Amino acid sequence: MRLFKERIVLKQKTVYVEVEQRKRFADYVILITGASGSIGSAIAQRFAVEGATVVLTGRNLSKLQDVKNQISCSTQIDVCQMDVTDEASVSNAMKTISDKYGRIDMLINNAGFSARTVKQPLHLQTIDNIDNLLQTNLRGSILTSREVVQYMQNSKQGRIVNIASIVGLQGKDKHAEYAAAKAGVFGLMKSQAIGVGKYGITVNCVSPGLVPREDASEEKLARFEHMNRLNSICTPEDIANAVAFLCSAEARYVTGQNLCVDGGRSLGLYGD
Ligand SMILES: NC(=O)c1ccc[n+]([C@@H]2O[C@H](COP(=O)([O-])OP(=O)(O)OC[C@H]3O[C@@H](n4cnc5c(N)ncnc54)[C@H](OP(=O)(O)O)[C@@H]3O)[C@@H](O)[C@H]2O)c1
Repeated sequence: MRLFKERIVLKQKTVYVEVEQRKRFADYVILITGASGSIGSAIAQRFAVEGATVVLTGRNLSKLQDVKNQISCSTQIDVCQMDVTDEASVSNAMKTISDKYGRIDMLINNAGFSARTVKQPLHLQTIDNIDNLLQTNLRGSILTSREVVQYMQNSKQGRIVNIASIVGLQGKDKHAEYAAAKAGVFGLMKSQAIGVGKYGITVNCVSPGLVPREDASEEKLARFEHMNRLNSICTPEDIANAVAFLCSAEARYVTGQNLCVDGGRSLGLYGD
């Protein structure tokens, strides 16, 4: 049992007590797509610490195995190959996970990528690039969200969290197809939230702003630090915290919502 000091305010007096570390997700099975990436692996770490059975999915098993080996926790961590663009791969993976653990309680639709690698205005984009991006970022989330409902329907406590982006809210130059995909994810999230509420399933989005990759240069980090209202860098753990909240019992009444974790980057206009 891990203990940590918790600050508790009792009748205006602050005391520190040792309490058992919360294992909010003990006995829950969580499936994370794109779990070998920077945000996906942080989400995996966070849920493992909180006691969940974590199933890391992605296309590349050896990358998933590396993430699994980096997570030092006593909870069950598993890996399963799943390409979100492939209908059969999605349904086979979910059936395998459900057969093994008897349930899937939470789905985190995190697999995706931005137009970063092929930044071009829409009129210069190839149809292959556009299709490729939509297939993963939008169609992939539609496929997994559709498939998982049958495994959550009876438990009355399912959670689906989609990792969208503030680009889907605001648009961005040279990112039209990415913005369209993530805006589509908002539509998916809201519509599915309406449809599956009766099964006790909540569906929400977390929208990151800029989360630098591990290999980001010092120059890039310095620039990112000032591209938000808090003048600080967003970490993958900041995104994982928001996902954990939306999956927790505390968020049982929150559905159909988008939570921006962007240091205020998407807020209003900058003054002169
Ligand atoms: N980083 C940011 O600043 C930022 C901002 C806003 C939103 N987001 C969103 O956050 C999510 C994670 O981004 P990240 O920065 O962590 O990216 P990342 O490090 O590149 O990770 C992306 C993950 O998606 C997986 N993936 C790609 N295609 C897949 C497919 N067809 N099937 C299954 N998995 C697939 C990749 O694994 P394999 O290639 O091995 O399969 C990888 O694990 C994405 O949806 C992204 O759009 C990121």
